[in-house]
Amino acid sequence: MGNRIDGKAFADQLCESLKTEIESLVAEHQLRPTIAVVLVGNDPASHVYVRNKVRRCEQLGIESIEHRLTSSTSQTELLDLIEEMNQDSNINGILVQLPVPEQIDDKAVIDAIAPEKDVDGFHILNAGALAVGQNQMVPCTPLGSMMLLKDQLGDLSGMHAVVIGRSNIVGKPMANLLLQENCTVTVVHSRTKNIEEVCRTADILVAAVGIPQLVKADWVKEGVTIIDVGINRVLVEGTEEEGKSKLVGDVDFDQVIDKAAAVTPVPGGVGPMTIACLMYNTVAAAKKQTGIS
Ligand code: GUN
Repeated sequence: MGNRIDGKAFADQLCESLKTEIESLVAEHQLRPTIAVVLVGNDPASHVYVRNKVRRCEQLGIESIEHRLTSSTSQTELLDLIEEMNQDSNINGILVQLPVPEQIDDKAVIDAIAPEKDVDGFHILNAGALAVGQNQMVPCTPLGSMMLLKDQLGDLSGMHAVVIGRSNIVGKPMANLLLQENCTVTVVHSRTKNIEEVCRTADILVAAVGIPQLVKADWVKEGVTIIDVGINRVLVEGTEEEGKSKLVGDVDFDQVIDKAAAVTPVPGGVGPMTIACLMYNTVAAAKKQTGIS
């Protein structure tokens, strides 16, 4: 039986140390890190994510400013708000929860955010910096996933890491971080031939495709370490809970846990780490903008 990686406990620990750091930033430098969170429209999952982010801010002593905009908000209105927040020196981090409604171009939104306030790490300059190994703001989910991997495995040098999914938010930055740790990296996606065969060669498997329980026992080799980034809401079937919904990952946890060395569960794995790393990036942004090392 493999190890269930406790992302919640790791995230709690990281947040505890951030809380202490924030207390000293406030006491010694009169600096209270501040993040602006923008939610456009009524996507139910986004509402939950934003609520969880704001709650973590409150626990840690990060000031959060919420902007809830209607689903009919125009691109110009959103870009004007971002520009206003770029100019506001009291705001250290800006996060626009994705997805945005279809009349708004998400690329235009991401690239309107000042790179030094882009705590998501999605801006083209931050993505480029990561690609050339000059990390600035690193996207939260890959950053949190990498912390869990290093905690589990120590030195990742020479390991074969397979990333399932090639999104700008997770797959590509994850591949870059794994390369920086001297892994041999393969990125597989919807057009990959023999995807299961490639996955079976992985020492490290990162699943980030958004397909519920795609990765089965016969996709993995004995002793693999698996990071499951998926958060999929599915209907429960065949039990007394029938008709209710639950969260599952991109990995069939119950199938792979006997073969793997370690696996992150969903929920309680990568999810809490994403939020903890958002807090980490916000504190880092606040310090950098204020010239505190
Ligand atoms: N939507 C899904 N994941 C994310 C994320 O990490 N950041 C933002 N801003 N939106 C998201």
